[in-house]
Amino acid sequence: VDAAPLARAESLIRSIPDYPEPGIVFRDITPLLADAAALGEVIDALIAPFAGRFDVVAGIEARGFLLAGAIATRAEVGLVPIRKAGKLPRPAASVSYALEYATATIEAHDDLPEGARVLLADDVLATGGTLVAGHQIVRSLGGEVVGSAVLLEIAALGGRAATGDVHAVFTV
Ligand code: PRP
Repeated sequence: VDAAPLARAESLIRSIPDYPEPGIVFRDITPLLADAAALGEVIDALIAPFAGRFDVVAGIEARGFLLAGAIATRAEVGLVPIRKAGKLPRPAASVSYALEYATATIEAHDDLPEGARVLLADDVLATGGTLVAGHQIVRSLGGEVVGSAVLLEIAALGGRAATGDVHAVFTV
């Protein structure tokens, strides 16, 4: 494996200090998405550990959708969006989870084929709350989670301990 193209892709993730609040470093993946070679490299890297082992990719709103769409076409699998509450007309599964000062709810339609092997996809793993809720959604729809693929893991926030099976292309 040639590491140079991935290192170049990583260099395109822009760090923005004090956004959205003082003390937070926001990781902006939009420069990476805008670069065709970098986007192709990271999509391949997201898929590689799970190649041939999943039937559906479930992308988590909103930035997870961007990666899931590309993963789906490249891996030739279907896509199920996991959305923030109130966006889907007929949610069959709904899971609430704690954020630092609030709660969030994610939902999905029941469009998973019975027993589908599902890869969860998102841009960033922080505390892991979102991916844990994603696991619960998939299971409540009768799917089997084969793992989670994220572009960037923020290791200091400890999300891996909560979610276990995460493959991160980049780690800070
Ligand atoms: C961000 C990110 C992940 C989640 C990770 O989503 O895209 O989904 O937070 O955090 P966690 O590991 O602590 O749960 P955000 O809510 O900012 O949504 P967006 O993609 O719609 O901006």
